[in-house]
Amino acid sequence: MFQFMTATRIIFGEGALNNSFSIFNNYGYSALVVTGRDDQRADSLLAYLSQQNIRYQRLAVHDEPLIAMVEEMAAAGRLFKPDMVIAIGGGSVMDVGKALSALIPNQGSVYDYVEVVGRALPLTAKPLPCIAIPTTAGTGSEVTRNAVMISAQENVKAAIRSPDLIPDVAIIDPTLTYGADKSLSARCGMDAFTHLMEAYVCGEPNPLTDMICEEGLRRLAPAIIHACEDDDPKARADMAFASMLGGMAQSNAKLGAAHGLAAALGAVLDAPHGAITAQLAPYVMAENILAAREAGRISLLNRYRQLACILTGRMNAEPSDGIVWVQRILRRLDLETLPQLGLCDTMFEEVAVSALRSSSIKGNPLPLSESRLIHILQQVCQFSNLEESSDPV
Ligand SMILES: [Fe+2]
Repeated sequence: MFQFMTATRIIFGEGALNNSFSIFNNYGYSALVVTGRDDQRADSLLAYLSQQNIRYQRLAVHDEPLIAMVEEMAAAGRLFKPDMVIAIGGGSVMDVGKALSALIPNQGSVYDYVEVVGRALPLTAKPLPCIAIPTTAGTGSEVTRNAVMISAQENVKAAIRSPDLIPDVAIIDPTLTYGADKSLSARCGMDAFTHLMEAYVCGEPNPLTDMICEEGLRRLAPAIIHACEDDDPKARADMAFASMLGGMAQSNAKLGAAHGLAAALGAVLDAPHGAITAQLAPYVMAENILAAREAGRISLLNRYRQLACILTGRMNAEPSDGIVWVQRILRRLDLETLPQLGLCDTMFEEVAVSALRSSSIKGNPLPLSESRLIHILQQVCQFSNLEESSDPV
């Protein structure tokens, strides 16, 4: 048995936003609009709301959201009493929008509803209608049921998670991702890759998420370089589509150790989520393949083999070829390494312990001990430092 949930309505394509404005009229007369900092991509939407006499209040999300910041925004939102929440921006913006849509009509604080560091209570009141509009191709948050934020007190990332958190409408317009700089596009794209990869090999896939992951990886593999380096419209569209599929996959299957470790690292490093998952992905793949060999998990090794075939386009690929593909893409995209982002060996134990508490790690295809997680972090640092020292000066 399995179930599958996603946004009620998905509108996808070039120009989708400007062609879908009338949808906002279906949801009432006032909107809380969550955006990134100084995001001009929201201008046409705000002009439409004004023209239609839809009252709005704009809230800007500057960085990865802290629980305290979401708490303040929820208080402001409750005073404003919106009929709907519109979130236009990257993953953090959409996550905050989804969290606010749930928190505004419900009593209590963020800690009442957040997992891991809070009480994880079920939502009693239905969230406000939420329309999510991604401007990056990475998180797939427009179709997921979780809203991730950072607990500064416990130094960990945690989420509010509920099927009711899935946006009512996802408007995915690849033109909104045009012109994004290479490093932002690269880390978002590699986060989308990590969602598809982890959901494909996770402990609880289902036939629909398998199909979605395979198509997402097929689209992403040839597109990621062209999207990031050339701003190629077809590649941008494929990345936006793959990102959405990654969101569907992670929301209906599970993730794994890359996201488990990223949840812990995201709270201690001042670094974007995608930059962290990108660097962890090949080493988590390697550790899982090693553990699968030791445990004789043939079916899991076959999954990694199939993953490698899709990524490389070669029918005779071996599981390790998938790792090589990821490392090659990472070198080409020239993303910052985790040591450059502040990871050092004194953090390993704390990060591994914290990762074991994360919800993502429970989806890893096989259980990884604290020492195996530390081994992953050691490998990440060792090979990153080797690459740096071998760079031509
Ligand atoms: Fe992610």
